[in-house]
Amino acid sequence: MYPVARHRSRLALRELTLEDVDAVHAIYGSSEATEHLSFEPRTRDQVAGIVARSIASATATPREEYALAVTEGEGGPLVGYARLALDPHQQRAATIGGALHRDAWGIGYGTETVHLLLDLAFDDLDLHRVWAARAPKNEASAKTLLAAGMTEEGRIRGHVFVRGAWRDSVVYGVLKEERNPART
Ligand SMILES: CC(C)(COP(=O)(O)OP(=O)(O)OC[C@H]1O[C@@H](n2cnc3c(N)ncnc32)[C@H](O)[C@@H]1OP(=O)(O)O)[C@@H](O)C(=O)NCCC(=O)NCCS
Repeated sequence: MYPVARHRSRLALRELTLEDVDAVHAIYGSSEATEHLSFEPRTRDQVAGIVARSIASATATPREEYALAVTEGEGGPLVGYARLALDPHQQRAATIGGALHRDAWGIGYGTETVHLLLDLAFDDLDLHRVWAARAPKNEASAKTLLAAGMTEEGRIRGHVFVRGAWRDSVVYGVLKEERNPART
């Protein structure tokens, strides 16, 4: 599916463009936003590469990755980066993730972003299952995934190697039939 264009009350999802590199770097170059993620803060060049690969993957057939801009309103400033990737070894399943600019935390945007990704997954792509993984210490992510209606399912031990050590992940999931698409 291309292009993605989804919105809720305050936020929208759209395809990335090369003009988004600085705004995405303001998120993924930040040590605060990446504190609990599986990688260290990115350089601007790294972010430019990620955005370019995301744009290329958007028009692949079949499309397996949806790396998207989260904007305030439709056509407003980029406040986040959201990603849905189809699971290659599961039927009609995908993993979601993302991050918001520090200035946009704490006002419900994280919850609305997860709802937007679930709208994409279940309404546009007709998926059966969506899951997400967080670092054990990422309390903001835990509350956000629960607030969006996902269920804690368990722990993957030694899931990611980051900052010199193997780290567990706590996993959340939601099935299509459980979906409660509360409007936000
Ligand atoms: C995780 C993240 C997207 C949350 O975004 P947000 O817009 O601040 O979240 P919301 O405002 O929608 O808050 C959702 C819930 O989380 C809680 N919360 C938010 N930040 C919190 C924090 N730092 N500590 C504890 N709880 C927090 C809110 O109180 C709210 O709880 P409630 O539903 O009980 O009221 C944001 O912190 C972020 O971008 N972090 C960096 C990247 C990251 O960790 N991504 C997730 C990877 S799995």
